[in-house]
This record gives sequence, C-alpha cells and structure tokens, in this order.
Amino acid sequence: MCGIVGYIGYEDVKETILSGLEKLEYRGYDSSGIAILNGTGLHIYKDKGRIAHLREIVDFGKEGTLGIGHTRWATHGKPNKINSHPHQSSTKRFTLVHNGIIENEDLLRMEYLQGVQCESDTDTEVVAQMIQKFTDEGKEPELAIRYTLTLIEGSYALAIIDCENPDVIYVAKNKSPLLIGKGKEFNMVASDAMAMIHHTNEFYELQDKEFAIISRNDVSIYNLFGMQIQRDIFLGELDASDIEKGTYPHYMLKEIDEQPFVIRRIIANYQDENGNLYIDQKIIEAVRSSDKVYIIACGTSYNAGLAGKHLLEKIASKSTEIHVSSEFVYNMPLLSDRPIFIFISQSGETADSRAVLVKVKEMGYPTLALTNVKGSTLYRETDYQLLLHAGPEIAVASTKAYTAQIAVLAILACRIKPCTKVDMLRELSIVANVMEALCDNKDLYEDLAKQYLSDTRNCFYIGRHVDYYTCLEAALKLKEISYIQTEGFAAGELKHGTIALIENDTPVIAVITQESINLNTRSNIKEVKARGAAVITIALKRISSDADQIIIGDVHEYLTPLVSIIPTQLLAYYAALHRGCDIDKPRNLAKSVTVE
Ligand code: F6R
Repeated sequence: MCGIVGYIGYEDVKETILSGLEKLEYRGYDSSGIAILNGTGLHIYKDKGRIAHLREIVDFGKEGTLGIGHTRWATHGKPNKINSHPHQSSTKRFTLVHNGIIENEDLLRMEYLQGVQCESDTDTEVVAQMIQKFTDEGKEPELAIRYTLTLIEGSYALAIIDCENPDVIYVAKNKSPLLIGKGKEFNMVASDAMAMIHHTNEFYELQDKEFAIISRNDVSIYNLFGMQIQRDIFLGELDASDIEKGTYPHYMLKEIDEQPFVIRRIIANYQDENGNLYIDQKIIEAVRSSDKVYIIACGTSYNAGLAGKHLLEKIASKSTEIHVSSEFVYNMPLLSDRPIFIFISQSGETADSRAVLVKVKEMGYPTLALTNVKGSTLYRETDYQLLLHAGPEIAVASTKAYTAQIAVLAILACRIKPCTKVDMLRELSIVANVMEALCDNKDLYEDLAKQYLSDTRNCFYIGRHVDYYTCLEAALKLKEISYIQTEGFAAGELKHGTIALIENDTPVIAVITQESINLNTRSNIKEVKARGAAVITIALKRISSDADQIIIGDVHEYLTPLVSIIPTQLLAYYAALHRGCDIDKPRNLAKSVTVE
C-alpha cells in the first residue's frame, strides 16, 4: 500500500523515480505523483491513475537531480488529483510524500493548524503544514521536522523536500517500511529494495522513529532527538532478475510456475550439512514448551495457516488454534497458560497482524514470524523468525507464498516431533515434481476456465477435510482476480442452506484428495449436479475416477494442499484472463496492507 521513491544525485531523476514507482506498483495504488526540484523551482505532476498516466503528464523537458515520487492507495479522501501526493505546505516551501496513517490528525489540526487552509482531504498535508509552522516560528527545518515527528501518532514513511535546500532529502519512518539505498554519487530512498535494486544493492535500514538526512554523497541517521546513529550497510539479497516478468505475460503466472523451485529452495534452506531437516533449536524449544500454538494471519496467509494447523496437530500432536488477525485483536479468546503465537505473513508488514503482535508482546508471550521478507516489521519485532524463501512475490494475488508457508509449517511440525514417521524432505521433493507436472498442463485449465468461468456470475468450491481449506483459498484467488463471486464451502455443509443458490450451469469445483472423505464429497457432487450445477472435479490420482477432469499426482496425504491448490490458481488466472481483468493488479486491492 502506497509506495515511496526518492533520489538525489547528479543525473536527471525522472526516469529513476518513475521506473522505481513502477517496481512498487505491485503494492497496490490508485493515484501517483512526482516532485522534481531544479534551478527553476519545484515541479509537481500528479493525478489519479496508473504510472503510465503519470508518464504522460510529466514534462520530460524539465530536468532535476533531486526528486520524490509516490503511489497512493486512498485512505483519507478520494483518489483524485488534489489528494494525490506529493503534498505541500501552504507557502510551498515543504513538499512531501507519505506512506502510513496519521492517527491524531484531528488533534494536530486543532492544536497547531487553526486558521491554516489545507488544500487536500489527506492526513499527510497536516505534516507538511506543521513543518512549515514550526519553521515559520524560527526552528531550523531539520528541527521543525523532528519536532513534528515527535507530535505525530500513527505510522509514517516520509520523504521531504525543502525548496530552500536543494542538497538534501529528509526521510523518516515509523511502522511503515522505508529503506535507504547507498549509491556512488547518489543516494536513494524507497519503500522496498525492488525500487532501487537496478541502481544499488547497498542499503541502510531505517528503524522506527528514526530520521535521516540524505545528500548526494552522504547519509546521516538520527533519532528524533537529534542524536546521530551509526548504522552498517547491508547487502540486498535480491537479484534484479527476480523482479522482472521475463517472457511471462503476468507476474502471477510466473509466480505460479515458480512453486516447484520454491519448494526445492525451502528443502535446501531447511537442511543441515548431513541432509537432515534443520530449524534453529531455540525455535523448536519455544514451540515445544508451549501448551498451544496460536496462528495469527489474514487472507491467503490465514488459509495457509489452516493447512498448517492440520500439520501441527497431525504430525507434531501440537494443539493449534488459528485466528484472523483483525478479529483476534479486538475479541481475544481465552488463552491457554503457555501459548506461542505464530504470525504468518508474506509481506511481514500487515497492520492487522502487527496490531496482534503488539498486544501479545505486551502480555509477554513468545512470538514467531513466518514471513517472506527478511527485515520486515513482523520479522524484526518477533522473538523468532522462519523465512519462506519464496523470492519476491509481486502479483497482488498470493500464490507461491501460500505454498511456501504450508511447506515451512510442515517442516516445523516434523522438527517439533522428530520421531514422526514422515520423511519430510523426500515427501516435499515429490510435491515439487507433482507441482511441475501440474504447471505443465496449462491448456487443460485454460479450456476449463473458458468453458465454465468466462461468463459466470458466481462459482462454488466444495471440499471436505483439508480440501475445504484448499477451497477457501481457491475461492479467494478466483474472486480477487476475476471478480466472480466465489465461495469455498465445506461440501457437507452445502445442504444446510447454500445449496439453494445452485442453479442450472452454476459452476461447482470439487476438490478431493483424502481417501477418508472421497465418497462423501462425491455424494455432495451428485446433490449439486441434480440441481443443475456444472461440476469440475480435481482429484488425487489414487482416489480418482475416469470422470474427473483434473487429476493430481500422488503425494503424502498430509501434503495434498500443496498440490491441489495449483490447478485452482491456474483456473483463477485463466478465468481472469478471459474476462479481461487486470490480473497482477486487481481492483481495490493492495499487496501489502499496512492499514488496519
Ligand atoms: C490474497 C492475498 C491477501 C494476503 C493478505 C495478508 O491473494 O494476497 O489475502 O494474503 O493481505 O498479507 P500478508 O501475507 O502479507 O500478511
């Protein structure tokens, strides 16, 4: 949600900032803007819409060596030109871009900005106006900014230009992500490394409530009281090719295809030199010594957590509860005596999950993050961390992170109970091979999507046991990218009400991977067929029948969610493709949801 790019150097900044913003498009946005400072003053271009539109309105004739850019996902005020960033103070001296939410905006307006006319509806403009006010009262700009930051409550990543000082960009961070990129004769700042990796792989991490002054040849980091902080550079692990689409038409398709490699990478990363499963003993002890695991997550990560709960209970005999973050935080259930909290999050930045983390940390409970992003907020703020090793996930719809989450939870479950009979490394290798075979069968999914999903209004996924969890994720994928109203249902539950929605030709996709429920789900298929449903069956080979349209190669019964999801991801992809949807950037959605 929202992306920031800033650059100061000796070259013209426009292309660097615009292409940096394009690399952040995956985060989700509805408007964009850029400010460039040069000898003739500050030039702002901004509007509702995509970066492609911003490129059309930018005056490429205006060169400048300092600039800031922004993609906005509207929270305060509609997505329109006025509310787009950059925002300015009323004298136009200070110009800034912001990611986050200023929670005490109303209070700040009342206390400090009486009589100041704000142009936009945004909380962001308040920050610009306050910096101006304190500067007008005689504070040096740097002090005015730091003082403003001490008064703000909420989250922010900020990049600020002072028109009277063309040699620096001021930046600050609290709770929202921001990284500084160190270059040769330039420095950069951005919401994540993807926007900078083509220019540098040397970064400074900025921590919460820190402030930095970035010039062409220097980066100085301070706390909000002005004390300088020494910070080491770290080398980005990102490879520039990881964030390119290559020959793929969409990131989503590329990321679906990457899943076998991700599983193999996980196998390699969670193995010791003797070829045994490896997870840090401290993590194992922390989970073992708890009396209950609480999984906290949102969306797709929550759905992966459902499969994870099954693995922890079946393989490790560990009692596990799972909760949606946004519910748990305000309606906490009665907790066990010695809980441990596992936060599952691709981005590691999800505000709903972080709100739970803050709360359970205050209560003194141990916390573990399962995330794809090293150094993300959840990664930094939890006691223990497990990485997904999925590589950057850029399509808004999560695919490879989902399977990576389940695979890492499967390894964790095996490590907690080493006497388990499951040879997890071998079983995961089989999973990777089966995934590959499924990904090679794209024509089949495209044909089925064309036939069943290209003009339907709604759709149902039905399954029992772990297949029900797969159905929840499959339904989320289909609805979020194709806009078909889709529900994932426990197959046995349909007859208790929802079957009333089945009409002639309503697509119902059944997932069957467990022997114990094979016949039951097949009875439910007969029930919906009798009411006119057009059924697609996805079945595991060893329990399949000739009439099943999609057959999945055999894997261990605990690991079927890793493979049964692949056809559903591809059905969603081709349904969206044939309906002309914006697959990588579905409407109203953001990749990294940094507001509660
Ligand atoms: C759906 C999707 C979302 C995320 C959810 C949590 O495809 O991507 O449902 O899973 O917003 O995000 P993370 O995992 O980053 O916490």
